[in-house]
Amino acid sequence: MSETELKNLQSEILAAIEGASDKAALEALRVEALGKKGKLTEMMKTLGSLAPDERKAMGATLNVVKDALTQALEARGKILAKAALSEKLERERIDITLAARPLTEGRVHPITQTTDEIVTIFASMGFAVAKGPEIESDWYNFTALNLPPDHPARQMQDTFYMPSNGEQKMVLRTHTSPVQIRTMLSQKPPIRVIAPGRTYRCDSDMTHTPMFSQFEGLVIDENTNMSHLKGIFHDFLRAFFGIDDLPVRFRPSYFPFTEPSAEVDIGCSRKDGKLKLGAYGDWLEIGGCGMVHPNVLRNGGIDPDKYQGFAFGTGIERLAMLKYGIPDLRTFFEADMRWLKHYGFVPLDIPNPALAG
Ligand code: PHE
Repeated sequence: MSETELKNLQSEILAAIEGASDKAALEALRVEALGKKGKLTEMMKTLGSLAPDERKAMGATLNVVKDALTQALEARGKILAKAALSEKLERERIDITLAARPLTEGRVHPITQTTDEIVTIFASMGFAVAKGPEIESDWYNFTALNLPPDHPARQMQDTFYMPSNGEQKMVLRTHTSPVQIRTMLSQKPPIRVIAPGRTYRCDSDMTHTPMFSQFEGLVIDENTNMSHLKGIFHDFLRAFFGIDDLPVRFRPSYFPFTEPSAEVDIGCSRKDGKLKLGAYGDWLEIGGCGMVHPNVLRNGGIDPDKYQGFAFGTGIERLAMLKYGIPDLRTFFEADMRWLKHYGFVPLDIPNPALAG
């Protein structure tokens, strides 16, 4: 074969490679040119019968052609693979913009919803969520919180005592405050946590249920003071209720585990027997708080000369009732489907747009 013929053959095969529309066609071309019985391979085989000079020249040319074809096959292969992938992706495309269809039967319980909202607001202020057990030792629930065994303030909370396990006196926790101690003993300051959860007191009437929910807040750092507590509570309550000018008042009070202690009130009106939140001159108590007592810091393994902290505790049902107009506390725990359908939340719904995103 002359050199011109060889060049023509090369152009022919290159054009075919260019035109190959899939992997199989490309492979067929490769076999046809470079396979065991391929055109170029056969020509290589004839080199032996040529005169030495001719053989050298022809050999070099054949190698150049072979390289060119190999490169072209490879390049075309890459393009085809890429195209095949795009086509596959296109074929398997999922429209993630399709609206989710929430279940129409189930509802999110108002306590769950309210807890989520509380956590969202505090998370945006840099708080982490802490947890503790509902069956708690007397030490965590009382003693470590500066209520020694004979302390009269123990009567402030009607405690459910558990059968003793021999070593420790156990109770159903009467508040989320034991999580303060657990957090102090397991983390180093700076500490910034909230601890939502169930609590229990032996009490049952119109406004008390034996089980209820609280959330505890705890902040400990080197220069924490009462004004930080006030600022955080202001911001939280205004964000939670979505009322920008909601009045918040701190009233001196007593808790054994905080000093000074305060109760927090928010502004409301009770005109015509209807409760309405806002700057109307009347007040409604919403929670307790204060600077963590030095004894409590010590019981949590924290040096009160170096660190100060504040804590707060609030009932979650109370917040839910106020925000969502739920009149009766006891209905929260009746598992009445009609109630849940009315006061519950559709999953993925965002009832408070201020908390979106
Ligand atoms: N644990 C208190 C209660 O249940 C509330 C509280 C928490 C008060 C933290 C001060 C600090 O009444």
